[in-house]
Amino acid sequence: MDSARRGVREHAHAFISVLATALLVWLCTPPLSARSIDPHSFARPDEARVTDVALDLKADFSTHTLRGTATLTLVLAPGAHEVVLDTKELAIASVNNQAGEALTFALGASDPLLGQPLTVALGPTTTAITIHYATSPNAGALQWLSPAQTAGRVQPYLFSQGESIYTRTWVPTQDSPGIRQTYTARIVVPAPLTAVMSAEMLTPGGVATPDGRAFEFKLDRPIPPYLIALAVGDIAFRPLGSRTGVYAEPSVLDRAAYEFADLEKMVDAAEHLAGPYRWGRYDIIVLPPSFPYGGMENPRLTFATPTVLAGDRSLTSLAAHELAHSWSGNLVTNATWNDFWLNEGFTTYVENRIMESLYGPERAGMLQQVERTELLESLKEVPRADTSLVVDLRGRDPDDGSSNIPYGKGAAFLRMLERAFGRPVFDPWLRGYLDHFAFQSITTTQFLEYLRTTLLSKTPGSEDRLHIHAWLYEPGLPANAPVVQSAALARASADAAEFAAGRTSAAALNASAWTTQEWQEFLANLPRPLAQDRMADLDRTYALSTRGNSEVLFQWLRLAVLSHYEPAFPALETFLTSQGRMKFVVPLYRALGESAWGRPMAERIFRAARATYHPLTVNAIEQAMARRP
Ligand code: BES
Ligand code: ZN
Repeated sequence: MDSARRGVREHAHAFISVLATALLVWLCTPPLSARSIDPHSFARPDEARVTDVALDLKADFSTHTLRGTATLTLVLAPGAHEVVLDTKELAIASVNNQAGEALTFALGASDPLLGQPLTVALGPTTTAITIHYATSPNAGALQWLSPAQTAGRVQPYLFSQGESIYTRTWVPTQDSPGIRQTYTARIVVPAPLTAVMSAEMLTPGGVATPDGRAFEFKLDRPIPPYLIALAVGDIAFRPLGSRTGVYAEPSVLDRAAYEFADLEKMVDAAEHLAGPYRWGRYDIIVLPPSFPYGGMENPRLTFATPTVLAGDRSLTSLAAHELAHSWSGNLVTNATWNDFWLNEGFTTYVENRIMESLYGPERAGMLQQVERTELLESLKEVPRADTSLVVDLRGRDPDDGSSNIPYGKGAAFLRMLERAFGRPVFDPWLRGYLDHFAFQSITTTQFLEYLRTTLLSKTPGSEDRLHIHAWLYEPGLPANAPVVQSAALARASADAAEFAAGRTSAAALNASAWTTQEWQEFLANLPRPLAQDRMADLDRTYALSTRGNSEVLFQWLRLAVLSHYEPAFPALETFLTSQGRMKFVVPLYRALGESAWGRPMAERIFRAARATYHPLTVNAIEQAMARRP
């Protein structure tokens, strides 16, 4: 071949390879939402991104570690030569490629909040990497419970909590809500224990292995990694409906099944509003009392606190809430924690619609009013800049963003839209939004763009008239926030004023038949401190210190601390040492810590209870107590 022709050939080759590269770049470049816009992740997903996680882990209750491998499937942009993962407190032993060859890896400097980037060098043909690792006994996502901390008191227990940025303490992956991944897992646990996960259980009952029992799981829908979740313990199951059920320790199962009896109906109601349920089953596991949250919407399997088991089904809006996340949050996810309101605001709105469709507008109105009272309280307490729906959490713990603002203000925003456009327009819009962004992670900018083109455009001028910009980006509550009407709760708050002023006695309140929500509203509206004789009258008449309802008991005990009402203190101590739900224990410790007399008491109780609390709870109490009286 002469040199001229060879030149043409080479040119053609070069041209084709440029074209091919361009095509590959285009094919492999994730949508903008998956680029490194997340300030809480070291990942650079536009270069190399994890699409699937396969775990093979053994739970060791004697060392409080999970040990084994995570195999990550990768999609690489052309020319990518490394992948960056998020890790925190993990011991990395080795990293191999899909052929079993060792890869070079390095752990970067440790950031106290974000942990350490794990950078793995890749060959041109690497499609998957296997990381051999172990977790730390102090892994932030994991709580290892002794038998004494469980209901059964015989077997130990383990559960994980990934949201917001804790998955990296037990799974080395790209831990950003904008980077969706499917997952499988094989978990080996000691013989009598059962493992459950936020995924389909492939091996009911487990498979015997030389060192225990193995359970296998699979979730074939891509999820943000904060939803990968595991619980291990003496766990039993009872079906509630054809696709719903409850898991709990055997001695808690009856109460759990009673409380959540309406679960199947809730799924039906949610589907009616939000579109088909896309995750197969919906079960709830009731965890031991140290679970730091009310509920956590792990896909297919909500994790819940036992403090929701009131015995009268009065707190089941929590189930409606976590179920609603199956659409808002798990199907359409905030791309970064700055957009957290997209998760919680929509969910709080849908939660209330589910409650309305099961129990009617009166109950839903009461719940809205309780939510509004909590929102108004937060608006007073939270730093003003953080009362905007979109927040700037760069350099901060994303859990700082989880006040009532994204919940209550987010739901109020959607309720405002519902009223402005009417349900016949708003409801199909809501469903369309959830369908349109299904299995995607989005920012508020993308939401606003969608809102403009699909809803606001129907009524010219509505964007300004409805103060959309102020709702999303400005602090405080816009003037067009919908007014909530609940006659019963308006009465309860009027009663609080009458009672506090001494114009009526506790007996004359006729409160024996009050609902939980009426009690919540009444107690929230009493002045703090409340006079000792008023406290005593309430206590004598309604035995508030012995309430089994955790929400009512919490409100009462906080009032007791702020009023220095000593007869309630034994009940306070029992409450603080028998459960570790942050929403309850943190404000109580804070209230105690703010007074000279309460601080030593708080310190004494905390010293004794500390070992039983979840690491998140310990941390939050320590922060709350750092404020000096
Ligand atoms: N996703 C949240 C819990 C969460 C928020 C965990 C932020 C970590 C960081 C869950 O859906 C939730 O909102 N739970 C509430 C109960 C709900 C009824 C408002 C809770 O735990 O109190
Ligand atoms: Zn939520």
